[in-house]
Amino acid sequence: MLRTHTCGELRLKDVGQTIQLAGWLARSRDLGGMTFIDLRDRFGITQLVFNMDDEAELCEKARRLGREFVIQVSGQVRERSNKNTHIATGDIEIRVSALEVLNPSITPPFTIEDDTDGGDDLRMRYRYLDLRRSVVRENLLLRHKLSGLIRAYLDKQQFIEVETPVLIKSTPEGARDFIVPSRMNQGEFYALPQSPQTFKQILMVAGFDRYYQIVKCFRDEDLRADRQPEFTQVDCELSFVQQADILALFEGLVRSLFIDVKGFDPGEFPKMTYDEAMRRFGNDKPDMRFGMEFCDLTPLTRSSGFAVFDAAELVLAITVPGAANYTRKQIDELTDWVKRPQIGAGGLIYMRYQEDGALKSSVDKFFNPDQLASFAKQAAANAGDLILILAGKEAQTRKAMSELRLEMGNRLGLRKKDHFVPLWVVDFPLLEMDEENGRWHAMHHPFTSPKPEHIALLSQNPGQVKANAYDLVINGTEIGGGSIRIHDKQLQQRMFSLLGFSDEEARNQFGFLMNAFEYGAPPHGGIALGFDRLCSTFGGADSIRDFIAFPKNNAGRDMMIDAPSTVHNDQLKELGINVVQK
Ligand code: AMO
Repeated sequence: MLRTHTCGELRLKDVGQTIQLAGWLARSRDLGGMTFIDLRDRFGITQLVFNMDDEAELCEKARRLGREFVIQVSGQVRERSNKNTHIATGDIEIRVSALEVLNPSITPPFTIEDDTDGGDDLRMRYRYLDLRRSVVRENLLLRHKLSGLIRAYLDKQQFIEVETPVLIKSTPEGARDFIVPSRMNQGEFYALPQSPQTFKQILMVAGFDRYYQIVKCFRDEDLRADRQPEFTQVDCELSFVQQADILALFEGLVRSLFIDVKGFDPGEFPKMTYDEAMRRFGNDKPDMRFGMEFCDLTPLTRSSGFAVFDAAELVLAITVPGAANYTRKQIDELTDWVKRPQIGAGGLIYMRYQEDGALKSSVDKFFNPDQLASFAKQAAANAGDLILILAGKEAQTRKAMSELRLEMGNRLGLRKKDHFVPLWVVDFPLLEMDEENGRWHAMHHPFTSPKPEHIALLSQNPGQVKANAYDLVINGTEIGGGSIRIHDKQLQQRMFSLLGFSDEEARNQFGFLMNAFEYGAPPHGGIALGFDRLCSTFGGADSIRDFIAFPKNNAGRDMMIDAPSTVHNDQLKELGINVVQK
């Protein structure tokens, strides 16, 4: 070993010991006759001291070291006169007697500190340096801890981990596939799994009963803070269960993670139907850390003579507590915010419920005080509150109001990172209409079972059919989703035909699953948790990027290895792909 201890290990009890440490030079300071170095490794930071009076040569050598040099030192542990309470080793320092440079370093392109001066792309290009920063390292340690706890919980519940293939055929999870050309079968392609969905169902037919896998999934979709083209799922499937069993088991898992990692029990997770979530929050993954629920003013505003309300399908209000003192400038700025194309509202109407009880609104000239008072009453506003109103087409208004609610939650500091409120959203619609091509789409995926009592509705009113599907939401993020599956060949065939697959297409794409269903498929269901999202939520961050060791940027590029990249023409020829000149 090149060291006797790690840089996070030594304490007062070790004073007097002669030790060896190895690590990276994080920082050095020259103070007259003394030189101090912070030596860093994965476990922490230890202060090294060199004294010019006693060891001039050694001290000179230490002064010539640059940031990120890899060094090895021997020396004696002693008590620090000037203790640092911010680090675990802050009571001691090492009086160095020997120093060896194991490897020099050129100057890093950004500072390797908690608050770095490196921009995103630069940090991604030099990811190995970014990973040396304790904040990023802590995130990956959290990820490691969570995956260990998840495995232990699922093992105890008799799940077994089974690996499923990565070179497969398209699985319809709603995104585009990444495809891989086959050299041995020219003109044919594998798809990378968007999830192991069909395989885990086949494992149920095979009698495995309880399967799990912490598995990479691949989706070619537009990236956002909570989306990466390759991401990890905790993917699970169980036989002989109903929805309530799955929710109880995975609620148990997530609760145990909160208890073990955060030291608190979030209690039983409430359940809310999809319809209720949309009505109250305009969103199927509502952030329950704060209120500001939607209030439907449409019935009160009909035929009011105010053109904006009269033309609207929906008039929605939210009451922002204690915000009546918002200035004209702040409201103008909010109005510009809701009118941005991403939000898409036509404008913003406001009512200030002043502390003196008076109501001042941007629509005073269209409504008398009684009408305004009835709006405020409906919106459950109190003196001191600000009522914000959006009006327009139904779906668009709901979506815009949902965004505005979240924004106001942010502005009022109501979305605290250390406050966790989980929720199950249940009873999703089975299908949604794709307005562009007039076709039904499976809202979860085509293997999701309709609620048994809704099967009869499939032929008359498919849009009304609710699915036996559920999502786990924490703090407004969809952490996981799953469903009870169809295990009956006829119903599965019916589902494919509703989704516009011809019999032949369905056979070609999913014949293997439907065949398997003829050999005794047990009733089954499952769930997949987005593991990166689970980690970032536990870490109190919005982006999953820093919980993935080597993430892609927003353009889907790995900046460190510079992928994707062009390939050699010979390689393309071998695959039977026409060479494209760039
Ligand atoms: P679903 O498509 O809902 O379900 O995915 C499950 C969970 O995976 C996470 N997730 C993502 N995380 C990061 N980047 C992405 N691009 C991304 N896409 C999805 C989300 C999501 O809730 N086979 C079904 C599960 C099942 O039915 O058992 C499935 O994949 O947190």
